[in-house]
Amino acid sequence: MRFGCEQCGAEAPKWVGRCAECGEWGTVVEVPAELLEAATIRPAGLVELERRGASHSPGNQAATPTPLAEVEPVAASRRSTGVGELDRVLSGGLVPGSVTLLGGEPGVGKSTLLLQALVAMAKAGARVLLVAAEESAAQVRLRAERLGDLPESLLVLSETSMPYVLAHAAQVAPDVLVVDSIQTVHDPDAPGVPGSVTQVRDSTHALVRFAKDQGTAVLLVGHVTKDGTIAGPRVLEHVVDTVLHFEGERNGALRLLRALKHRFGRTDEIGLFEMTASGLGEVEDASAMLLADRLPGACGSVVVPMLEGSRPLLVEVQALVAVTNAPVPRRQAQAFDNGRLAMLTAVLGKRGGVPVGMLDLYASVVGGVRLADTGADLGVILATASSLYDRPFSSSWVALGEVGLGGEVRAVPRVAQRLAEAARIGFAGAIVPQSTPAVDGIDLVRVVDVQEALDAARLSELDRCYGKSEPGLQLV
Ligand code: TYD
Ligand code: MG
Repeated sequence: MRFGCEQCGAEAPKWVGRCAECGEWGTVVEVPAELLEAATIRPAGLVELERRGASHSPGNQAATPTPLAEVEPVAASRRSTGVGELDRVLSGGLVPGSVTLLGGEPGVGKSTLLLQALVAMAKAGARVLLVAAEESAAQVRLRAERLGDLPESLLVLSETSMPYVLAHAAQVAPDVLVVDSIQTVHDPDAPGVPGSVTQVRDSTHALVRFAKDQGTAVLLVGHVTKDGTIAGPRVLEHVVDTVLHFEGERNGALRLLRALKHRFGRTDEIGLFEMTASGLGEVEDASAMLLADRLPGACGSVVVPMLEGSRPLLVEVQALVAVTNAPVPRRQAQAFDNGRLAMLTAVLGKRGGVPVGMLDLYASVVGGVRLADTGADLGVILATASSLYDRPFSSSWVALGEVGLGGEVRAVPRVAQRLAEAARIGFAGAIVPQSTPAVDGIDLVRVVDVQEALDAARLSELDRCYGKSEPGLQLV
Protein backbone atom coordinates (compact mmCIF):
# COMPACT_ATOMS: atom_id res chain seq x y z
CA MET A 1 0.00 0.00 0.00
CA ARG A 2 1.41 3.42 -0.98
CA PHE A 3 0.28 6.96 -0.26
CA GLY A 4 0.59 10.25 -2.12
CA CYS A 5 -0.54 13.88 -1.89
CA GLU A 6 -3.39 14.93 -4.17
CA GLN A 7 -2.22 18.54 -4.15
CA CYS A 8 1.47 18.34 -4.98
CA GLY A 9 1.94 14.72 -6.00
CA ALA A 10 4.60 14.01 -3.39
CA GLU A 11 4.91 10.50 -2.06
CA ALA A 12 4.28 9.76 1.61
CA PRO A 13 5.60 6.67 3.41
CA LYS A 14 2.38 6.24 5.39
CA TRP A 15 -0.97 7.95 5.79
CA VAL A 16 -0.54 11.35 7.40
CA GLY A 17 -3.01 14.16 8.05
CA ARG A 18 -0.75 16.77 6.53
CA CYS A 19 1.48 16.54 3.47
CA ALA A 20 5.10 17.07 4.52
CA GLU A 21 5.93 18.57 1.13
CA CYS A 22 3.25 21.21 0.50
CA GLY A 23 1.81 21.49 4.00
CA GLU A 24 -1.80 20.93 2.89
CA TRP A 25 -4.12 19.14 5.32
CA GLY A 26 -6.15 16.08 4.39
CA THR A 27 -4.69 15.67 0.91
CA VAL A 28 -2.71 12.48 1.45
CA VAL A 29 -4.63 9.50 0.03
CA GLU A 30 -3.97 5.90 -0.70
CA VAL A 31 -2.78 5.48 -4.28
CA PRO A 32 -4.69 2.94 -6.39
CA ALA A 33 -2.52 0.11 -7.66
CA GLU A 34 -3.02 0.93 -11.36
CA LEU A 35 -1.70 4.44 -10.87
CA LEU A 36 1.28 3.15 -8.95
CA GLU A 37 2.30 0.92 -11.81
CA ALA A 38 2.46 3.90 -14.09
CA ALA A 39 4.65 5.59 -11.48
CA THR A 40 2.54 8.74 -11.31
CA ILE A 41 3.44 9.41 -7.70
CA ARG A 42 6.98 10.62 -7.58
CA PRO A 43 9.46 11.21 -4.80
CA ALA A 44 9.17 14.67 -3.29
CA GLY A 45 12.58 15.75 -4.60
CA LEU A 46 11.55 15.05 -8.16
CA VAL A 47 8.34 17.00 -7.76
CA GLU A 48 10.38 19.99 -6.61
CA LEU A 49 12.75 19.64 -9.56
CA GLU A 50 9.81 19.60 -11.96
CA ARG A 51 8.38 22.63 -10.32
CA ARG A 52 11.61 24.55 -10.81
CA GLY A 53 12.24 23.24 -14.28
CA ALA A 54 8.83 24.03 -15.63
CA SER A 55 9.43 27.73 -16.10
CA HIS A 56 12.67 27.47 -18.01
CA SER A 57 13.45 29.52 -21.11
CA PRO A 58 12.33 28.42 -24.63
CA GLY A 59 12.87 24.77 -25.24
CA ASN A 60 14.78 24.45 -21.98
CA GLN A 61 17.98 25.22 -23.89
CA ALA A 62 20.99 26.10 -21.83
CA ALA A 63 20.91 29.82 -21.02
CA THR A 64 23.89 32.16 -21.04
CA PRO A 65 24.53 35.00 -18.58
CA THR A 66 23.49 38.35 -20.08
CA PRO A 67 23.86 41.92 -18.78
CA LEU A 68 20.52 42.73 -17.16
CA ALA A 69 20.48 46.13 -18.83
CA GLU A 70 20.46 44.47 -22.26
CA VAL A 71 17.51 42.22 -21.49
CA GLU A 72 14.44 43.17 -23.51
CA PRO A 73 11.76 44.70 -21.27
CA VAL A 74 8.37 42.96 -21.34
CA ALA A 75 6.32 46.13 -21.59
CA ALA A 76 7.25 46.51 -25.26
CA SER A 77 5.82 43.17 -26.28
CA ARG A 78 2.58 43.09 -24.33
CA ARG A 79 -0.55 42.47 -26.34
CA SER A 80 -3.69 44.29 -25.29
CA THR A 81 -6.58 41.89 -24.75
CA GLY A 82 -9.01 44.49 -26.04
CA VAL A 83 -10.88 44.30 -22.73
CA GLY A 84 -9.80 47.30 -20.68
CA GLU A 85 -10.49 45.84 -17.26
CA LEU A 86 -8.64 42.62 -18.12
CA ASP A 87 -5.67 44.64 -19.36
CA ARG A 88 -5.67 46.57 -16.11
CA VAL A 89 -5.38 43.37 -14.05
CA LEU A 90 -2.68 42.05 -16.40
CA SER A 91 -0.70 45.31 -16.02
CA GLY A 92 -1.21 46.19 -19.68
CA GLY A 93 -1.89 42.96 -21.54
CA LEU A 94 -0.71 39.46 -22.35
CA VAL A 95 3.00 38.73 -22.60
CA PRO A 96 3.97 36.39 -25.49
CA GLY A 97 4.99 32.96 -24.21
CA SER A 98 3.26 33.48 -20.87
CA VAL A 99 0.71 31.14 -19.32
CA THR A 100 -2.27 32.54 -17.44
CA LEU A 101 -4.69 30.52 -15.36
CA LEU A 102 -8.20 31.94 -14.93
CA GLY A 103 -10.05 30.40 -12.00
CA GLY A 104 -13.60 30.94 -10.81
CA GLU A 105 -16.78 29.17 -9.85
CA PRO A 106 -19.00 27.70 -12.57
CA GLY A 107 -21.24 30.31 -14.14
CA VAL A 108 -19.27 33.33 -13.04
CA GLY A 109 -18.40 34.17 -16.65
CA LYS A 110 -14.90 32.79 -17.34
CA SER A 111 -15.76 31.48 -20.81
CA THR A 112 -17.58 34.69 -21.65
CA LEU A 113 -14.67 36.88 -20.55
CA LEU A 114 -12.10 34.96 -22.56
CA LEU A 115 -14.30 34.74 -25.64
CA GLN A 116 -14.80 38.50 -25.50
CA ALA A 117 -11.05 39.01 -25.26
CA LEU A 118 -10.44 36.61 -28.16
CA VAL A 119 -12.99 38.39 -30.36
CA ALA A 120 -11.36 41.74 -29.60
CA MET A 121 -7.82 40.44 -30.21
CA ALA A 122 -8.86 38.74 -33.45
CA LYS A 123 -10.40 42.01 -34.62
CA ALA A 124 -7.11 43.72 -33.83
CA GLY A 125 -5.35 41.31 -36.19
CA ALA A 126 -4.12 38.57 -33.85
CA ARG A 127 -4.34 34.90 -34.73
CA VAL A 128 -6.33 33.30 -31.96
CA LEU A 129 -7.43 29.75 -31.22
CA LEU A 130 -10.06 28.69 -28.72
CA VAL A 131 -9.95 25.07 -27.60
CA ALA A 132 -13.45 24.36 -26.30
CA ALA A 133 -13.13 21.18 -24.28
CA GLU A 134 -16.40 21.64 -22.42
CA GLU A 135 -18.65 22.82 -25.19
CA SER A 136 -19.27 22.04 -28.85
CA ALA A 137 -18.27 24.59 -31.48
CA ALA A 138 -21.97 25.27 -31.98
CA GLN A 139 -22.41 26.12 -28.30
CA VAL A 140 -19.48 28.51 -28.48
CA ARG A 141 -21.05 30.09 -31.54
CA LEU A 142 -24.32 30.52 -29.66
CA ARG A 143 -22.53 32.35 -26.88
CA ALA A 144 -20.50 34.41 -29.34
CA GLU A 145 -23.63 35.63 -31.09
CA ARG A 146 -24.55 37.54 -27.96
CA LEU A 147 -21.23 39.36 -28.15
CA GLY A 148 -21.57 40.91 -31.60
CA ASP A 149 -20.10 40.15 -35.05
CA LEU A 150 -17.35 37.56 -35.38
CA PRO A 151 -13.96 38.07 -37.00
CA GLU A 152 -12.57 35.52 -39.50
CA SER A 153 -9.31 35.00 -37.66
CA LEU A 154 -11.01 33.57 -34.54
CA LEU A 155 -10.63 29.80 -34.75
CA VAL A 156 -12.43 27.34 -32.51
CA LEU A 157 -11.53 23.70 -31.90
CA SER A 158 -13.87 21.47 -29.94
CA GLU A 159 -11.47 18.82 -28.69
CA THR A 160 -10.55 17.21 -25.38
CA SER A 161 -7.60 15.05 -26.36
CA MET A 162 -4.28 16.74 -25.56
CA PRO A 163 -2.22 15.22 -28.41
CA TYR A 164 -4.74 16.60 -30.95
CA VAL A 165 -4.96 19.93 -29.18
CA LEU A 166 -1.18 20.32 -29.32
CA ALA A 167 -0.97 19.16 -32.94
CA HIS A 168 -3.64 21.63 -34.09
CA ALA A 169 -2.14 24.41 -32.01
CA ALA A 170 1.28 23.79 -33.54
CA GLN A 171 -0.25 23.93 -37.01
CA VAL A 172 -2.26 27.09 -36.42
CA ALA A 173 0.61 28.72 -34.49
CA PRO A 174 -1.73 31.22 -32.81
CA ASP A 175 -0.62 34.38 -31.03
CA VAL A 176 -3.12 33.57 -28.31
CA LEU A 177 -4.42 30.13 -27.30
CA VAL A 178 -7.27 29.58 -24.85
CA VAL A 179 -7.96 26.16 -23.33
CA ASP A 180 -11.39 25.97 -21.68
CA SER A 181 -10.92 24.15 -19.36
CA ILE A 182 -7.70 22.57 -18.17
CA GLN A 183 -9.69 19.97 -16.20
CA THR A 184 -11.53 18.65 -19.25
CA VAL A 185 -8.58 18.13 -21.60
CA HIS A 186 -6.67 14.89 -21.13
CA ASP A 187 -4.14 12.57 -22.69
CA PRO A 188 -5.83 9.22 -23.40
CA ASP A 189 -2.49 7.41 -23.29
CA ALA A 190 -1.55 8.71 -19.84
CA PRO A 191 -3.02 7.26 -16.64
CA GLY A 192 -5.89 8.82 -14.77
CA VAL A 193 -9.33 10.05 -15.79
CA PRO A 194 -9.81 13.61 -17.15
CA GLY A 195 -9.64 16.09 -14.29
CA SER A 196 -7.45 13.87 -12.11
CA VAL A 197 -4.38 15.39 -10.53
CA THR A 198 -1.87 13.74 -12.84
CA GLN A 199 -3.84 14.54 -15.97
CA VAL A 200 -4.30 18.20 -15.05
CA ARG A 201 -0.65 18.53 -14.14
CA ASP A 202 0.62 16.83 -17.27
CA SER A 203 -1.67 18.85 -19.56
CA THR A 204 -0.52 22.06 -17.90
CA HIS A 205 3.12 21.14 -18.29
CA ALA A 206 2.58 20.34 -21.97
CA LEU A 207 0.84 23.68 -22.55
CA VAL A 208 3.54 25.60 -20.66
CA ARG A 209 6.14 23.98 -22.89
CA PHE A 210 4.08 24.88 -25.96
CA ALA A 211 3.80 28.51 -24.82
CA LYS A 212 7.53 28.86 -24.20
CA ASP A 213 8.51 27.12 -27.43
CA GLN A 214 6.11 28.98 -29.71
CA GLY A 215 5.92 32.31 -27.94
CA THR A 216 2.14 31.92 -27.77
CA ALA A 217 0.27 33.55 -24.92
CA VAL A 218 -1.74 30.71 -23.37
CA LEU A 219 -4.81 31.18 -21.20
CA LEU A 220 -6.20 28.26 -19.22
CA VAL A 221 -9.61 28.14 -17.56
CA GLY A 222 -9.55 26.35 -14.22
CA HIS A 223 -12.47 25.17 -12.09
CA VAL A 224 -12.47 26.10 -8.49
CA THR A 225 -13.26 23.85 -5.54
CA LYS A 226 -15.53 24.78 -2.64
CA ASP A 227 -12.69 26.28 -0.60
CA GLY A 228 -11.73 28.59 -3.45
CA THR A 229 -8.56 26.88 -4.66
CA ILE A 230 -8.20 25.72 -8.21
CA ALA A 231 -9.10 22.04 -8.40
CA GLY A 232 -6.04 19.97 -9.13
CA PRO A 233 -2.54 20.04 -7.85
CA ARG A 234 -1.06 23.10 -6.26
CA VAL A 235 1.92 22.84 -8.59
CA LEU A 236 -0.39 24.19 -11.28
CA GLU A 237 -0.20 27.59 -9.64
CA HIS A 238 3.60 27.37 -9.43
CA VAL A 239 3.98 26.41 -13.06
CA VAL A 240 1.96 29.20 -14.66
CA ASP A 241 3.08 32.83 -14.81
CA THR A 242 -0.18 34.42 -13.79
CA VAL A 243 -3.13 33.27 -11.71
CA LEU A 244 -6.34 35.26 -12.07
CA HIS A 245 -9.48 34.76 -10.04
CA PHE A 246 -12.93 35.76 -11.26
CA GLU A 247 -15.53 36.15 -8.55
CA GLY A 248 -18.95 37.52 -7.85
CA GLU A 249 -22.29 36.58 -6.41
CA ARG A 250 -24.23 34.35 -8.79
CA ASN A 251 -27.36 36.49 -8.57
CA GLY A 252 -25.57 39.83 -8.41
CA ALA A 253 -24.36 41.41 -11.64
CA LEU A 254 -20.99 42.66 -10.39
CA ARG A 255 -17.90 40.56 -11.12
CA LEU A 256 -14.41 41.12 -9.76
CA LEU A 257 -11.25 39.96 -11.45
CA ARG A 258 -8.09 39.77 -9.33
CA ALA A 259 -4.54 38.66 -9.94
CA LEU A 260 -3.39 36.27 -7.20
CA LYS A 261 0.02 35.90 -8.82
CA HIS A 262 1.55 37.80 -11.71
CA ARG A 263 5.11 37.43 -12.90
CA PHE A 264 4.80 40.42 -15.24
CA GLY A 265 3.31 43.08 -13.05
CA ARG A 266 1.39 44.10 -9.96
CA THR A 267 -1.17 41.93 -8.25
CA ASP A 268 -3.17 44.59 -6.45
CA GLU A 269 -5.28 45.83 -9.36
CA ILE A 270 -8.81 44.59 -9.75
CA GLY A 271 -11.05 44.55 -12.79
CA LEU A 272 -14.75 45.26 -12.43
CA PHE A 273 -17.36 43.82 -14.76
CA GLU A 274 -21.10 43.62 -14.97
CA MET A 275 -22.83 40.60 -16.54
CA THR A 276 -25.36 41.85 -19.08
CA ALA A 277 -27.47 40.21 -21.77
CA SER A 278 -24.72 40.94 -24.29
CA GLY A 279 -21.68 39.74 -22.37
CA LEU A 280 -19.55 41.32 -19.70
CA GLY A 281 -19.65 45.09 -19.57
CA GLU A 282 -16.85 47.07 -18.02
CA VAL A 283 -18.02 48.96 -14.97
CA GLU A 284 -17.09 52.60 -14.95
CA ASP A 285 -18.78 53.73 -11.77
CA ALA A 286 -18.77 50.75 -9.44
CA SER A 287 -19.61 52.74 -6.31
CA ALA A 288 -22.78 54.13 -7.84
CA MET A 289 -23.74 50.66 -9.06
CA LEU A 290 -23.19 49.06 -5.66
CA LEU A 291 -25.20 51.69 -3.84
CA ALA A 292 -28.06 51.81 -6.36
CA ASP A 293 -30.45 49.61 -4.36
CA ARG A 294 -29.72 51.09 -0.96
CA LEU A 295 -32.71 52.05 1.18
CA PRO A 296 -31.89 55.43 2.71
CA GLY A 297 -32.74 55.59 6.39
CA ALA A 298 -32.72 51.81 6.91
CA CYS A 299 -31.50 50.58 10.27
CA GLY A 300 -28.40 48.42 10.32
CA SER A 301 -26.88 49.88 7.17
CA VAL A 302 -23.61 51.82 6.93
CA VAL A 303 -21.67 52.78 3.80
CA VAL A 304 -17.92 52.21 3.94
CA PRO A 305 -15.31 53.54 1.49
CA MET A 306 -13.21 50.47 0.73
CA LEU A 307 -10.10 50.03 -1.29
CA GLU A 308 -9.84 47.32 -3.93
CA GLY A 309 -6.40 47.38 -5.47
CA SER A 310 -5.69 51.05 -5.99
CA ARG A 311 -9.39 51.77 -6.53
CA PRO A 312 -11.72 53.22 -3.96
CA LEU A 313 -15.10 51.49 -3.89
CA LEU A 314 -18.10 52.38 -1.76
CA VAL A 315 -19.91 49.38 -0.32
CA GLU A 316 -22.89 49.00 1.96
CA VAL A 317 -22.33 46.97 5.11
CA GLN A 318 -25.51 45.57 6.66
CA ALA A 319 -26.10 44.06 10.07
CA LEU A 320 -29.13 42.43 11.61
CA VAL A 321 -29.47 41.73 15.31
CA ALA A 322 -32.24 39.33 16.26
CA VAL A 323 -33.58 37.79 19.45
CA THR A 324 -32.86 34.09 19.64
CA ASN A 325 -34.03 31.11 21.67
CA ALA A 326 -30.91 29.13 20.86
CA PRO A 327 -28.54 28.59 23.80
CA VAL A 328 -25.62 29.70 21.62
CA PRO A 329 -26.40 32.78 19.53
CA ARG A 330 -25.42 32.79 15.86
CA ARG A 331 -22.74 35.00 14.39
CA GLN A 332 -22.87 34.87 10.65
CA ALA A 333 -20.80 37.01 8.33
CA GLN A 334 -21.32 36.91 4.59
CA ALA A 335 -18.51 38.22 2.36
CA PHE A 336 -16.15 38.84 5.22
CA ASP A 337 -14.43 36.91 7.94
CA ASN A 338 -16.59 35.24 10.62
CA GLY A 339 -13.77 35.46 13.15
CA ARG A 340 -13.50 39.20 12.55
CA LEU A 341 -17.24 39.57 13.16
CA ALA A 342 -16.98 37.69 16.47
CA MET A 343 -14.10 39.93 17.55
CA LEU A 344 -15.92 43.13 16.59
CA THR A 345 -19.01 41.97 18.47
CA ALA A 346 -16.91 41.39 21.57
CA VAL A 347 -15.34 44.86 21.26
CA LEU A 348 -18.78 46.40 20.80
CA GLY A 349 -20.01 44.77 24.00
CA LYS A 350 -16.94 45.42 26.11
CA ARG A 351 -15.76 48.84 24.88
CA GLY A 352 -18.93 50.32 23.45
CA GLY A 353 -21.32 49.10 26.13
CA VAL A 354 -23.66 47.74 23.47
CA PRO A 355 -25.14 44.46 24.74
CA VAL A 356 -25.20 42.07 21.79
CA GLY A 357 -23.95 39.07 23.73
CA MET A 358 -27.02 36.83 23.74
CA LEU A 359 -28.48 37.92 20.41
CA ASP A 360 -28.15 36.45 16.93
CA LEU A 361 -26.04 38.61 14.65
CA TYR A 362 -25.87 38.56 10.86
CA ALA A 363 -23.62 40.85 8.87
CA SER A 364 -23.15 41.09 5.15
CA VAL A 365 -21.73 43.20 2.38
CA VAL A 366 -24.11 44.07 -0.43
CA GLY A 367 -23.23 43.42 -4.08
CA GLY A 368 -20.86 40.47 -3.91
CA VAL A 369 -17.73 42.36 -2.90
CA ARG A 370 -15.57 40.51 -0.38
CA LEU A 371 -14.16 42.61 2.43
CA ALA A 372 -10.52 41.84 3.04
CA ASP A 373 -9.84 45.37 4.22
CA THR A 374 -10.06 46.01 7.98
CA GLY A 375 -11.10 49.59 7.22
CA ALA A 376 -14.69 48.29 7.30
CA ASP A 377 -14.50 47.41 11.03
CA LEU A 378 -16.04 50.64 12.23
CA GLY A 379 -18.81 50.31 9.65
CA VAL A 380 -19.67 46.82 10.92
CA ILE A 381 -19.77 48.04 14.51
CA LEU A 382 -22.00 51.01 13.72
CA ALA A 383 -24.32 48.91 11.54
CA THR A 384 -24.70 46.42 14.41
CA ALA A 385 -25.50 49.11 16.96
CA SER A 386 -27.90 50.71 14.48
CA SER A 387 -29.78 47.44 14.05
CA LEU A 388 -29.87 46.73 17.77
CA TYR A 389 -31.27 50.14 18.72
CA ASP A 390 -33.44 50.48 15.60
CA ARG A 391 -31.94 53.87 14.89
CA PRO A 392 -30.62 54.55 11.40
CA PHE A 393 -27.06 55.64 10.74
CA SER A 394 -27.18 58.82 8.66
CA SER A 395 -27.59 57.85 5.01
CA SER A 396 -25.46 60.77 3.83
CA TRP A 397 -22.47 59.75 5.96
CA VAL A 398 -19.84 57.05 5.70
CA ALA A 399 -17.70 55.41 8.40
CA LEU A 400 -14.13 54.27 8.09
CA GLY A 401 -11.55 52.81 10.47
CA GLU A 402 -9.94 49.65 11.74
CA VAL A 403 -10.98 48.70 15.26
CA GLY A 404 -8.51 47.23 17.74
CA LEU A 405 -9.20 44.99 20.74
CA GLY A 406 -8.97 48.00 23.04
CA GLY A 407 -11.83 49.60 21.15
CA GLU A 408 -9.48 52.16 19.59
CA VAL A 409 -10.20 53.32 16.05
CA ARG A 410 -7.05 53.04 13.95
CA ALA A 411 -5.87 54.72 10.77
CA VAL A 412 -6.33 52.99 7.43
CA PRO A 413 -4.23 53.32 4.27
CA ARG A 414 -5.06 55.85 1.52
CA VAL A 415 -7.73 57.52 3.55
CA ALA A 416 -7.80 60.69 1.44
CA GLN A 417 -8.47 58.74 -1.75
CA ARG A 418 -11.33 56.85 -0.12
CA LEU A 419 -12.94 59.97 1.28
CA ALA A 420 -12.60 61.77 -2.05
CA GLU A 421 -14.60 58.93 -3.63
CA ALA A 422 -17.28 59.29 -0.94
CA ALA A 423 -17.43 63.03 -1.63
CA ARG A 424 -17.69 62.39 -5.38
CA ILE A 425 -20.74 60.14 -4.87
CA GLY A 426 -22.31 62.91 -2.78
CA PHE A 427 -21.75 61.86 0.82
CA ALA A 428 -21.69 64.83 3.17
CA GLY A 429 -19.57 63.52 6.02
CA ALA A 430 -17.53 60.72 7.50
CA ILE A 431 -16.68 59.28 10.90
CA VAL A 432 -12.95 58.63 10.67
CA PRO A 433 -9.85 57.84 12.77
CA GLN A 434 -8.23 60.66 14.74
CA SER A 435 -5.22 61.12 12.44
CA THR A 436 -7.25 61.67 9.25
CA PRO A 437 -6.28 64.83 7.31
CA ALA A 438 -8.99 67.13 5.94
CA VAL A 439 -10.46 66.24 2.55
CA ASP A 440 -12.27 68.70 0.26
CA GLY A 441 -16.02 68.38 -0.01
CA ILE A 442 -16.67 66.17 3.01
CA ASP A 443 -17.09 66.92 6.73
CA LEU A 444 -15.08 64.78 9.11
CA VAL A 445 -15.81 63.72 12.66
CA ARG A 446 -12.58 62.31 14.07
CA VAL A 447 -12.94 59.69 16.78
CA VAL A 448 -10.45 57.99 19.10
CA ASP A 449 -12.45 54.92 20.02
CA VAL A 450 -15.64 52.97 19.46
CA GLN A 451 -17.48 54.82 22.22
CA GLU A 452 -16.81 58.18 20.57
CA ALA A 453 -17.90 56.79 17.22
CA LEU A 454 -21.18 55.51 18.71
CA ASP A 455 -21.77 58.90 20.36
CA ALA A 456 -21.02 60.75 17.13
CA ALA A 457 -23.43 58.54 15.21
CA ARG A 458 -25.98 58.91 18.03
CA LEU A 459 -26.01 55.16 18.46
CA SER A 460 -24.93 54.84 22.08
CA GLU A 461 -26.94 53.31 24.91
CA LEU A 462 -27.75 56.84 26.13
CA ASP A 463 -29.20 57.87 22.77
CA ARG A 464 -31.44 54.86 22.82
CA CYS A 465 -32.82 55.82 26.25
CA TYR A 466 -33.49 59.41 25.23
CA GLY A 467 -35.14 58.40 21.97
CA LYS A 468 -35.02 60.00 18.58
CA SER A 469 -36.04 63.53 19.59
CA GLU A 470 -32.55 64.55 20.77
CA PRO A 471 -30.95 66.67 18.06
CA GLY A 472 -27.26 66.15 18.91
CA LEU A 473 -24.70 66.11 16.13
CA GLN A 474 -26.14 67.05 12.76
CA LEU A 475 -25.98 63.73 10.99
CA VAL A 476 -28.95 63.80 8.70
P1 TYD B 1 -20.03 31.41 -18.62
O1 TYD B 1 -19.07 32.33 -19.29
O2 TYD B 1 -20.40 30.17 -19.35
O3 TYD B 1 -19.46 31.02 -17.18
P2 TYD B 1 -18.25 30.03 -16.80
O4 TYD B 1 -17.46 29.75 -18.02
O5 TYD B 1 -17.47 30.76 -15.73
O6 TYD B 1 -18.87 28.79 -16.23
O7 TYD B 1 -21.37 32.25 -18.36
C1 TYD B 1 -21.96 32.38 -17.13
C2 TYD B 1 -23.37 32.88 -17.16
O8 TYD B 1 -23.47 34.13 -17.79
C3 TYD B 1 -24.33 31.97 -17.85
O9 TYD B 1 -25.27 31.53 -16.87
C4 TYD B 1 -25.04 32.79 -18.86
C5 TYD B 1 -24.68 34.20 -18.50
N1 TYD B 1 -24.47 35.08 -19.65
C6 TYD B 1 -25.09 36.31 -19.67
O10 TYD B 1 -25.84 36.68 -18.76
N2 TYD B 1 -24.88 37.15 -20.75
C7 TYD B 1 -24.08 36.79 -21.80
O11 TYD B 1 -23.92 37.57 -22.76
C8 TYD B 1 -23.45 35.49 -21.77
C9 TYD B 1 -22.57 35.07 -22.89
C10 TYD B 1 -23.67 34.68 -20.68
MG1 MG C 1 -17.24 27.91 -19.05
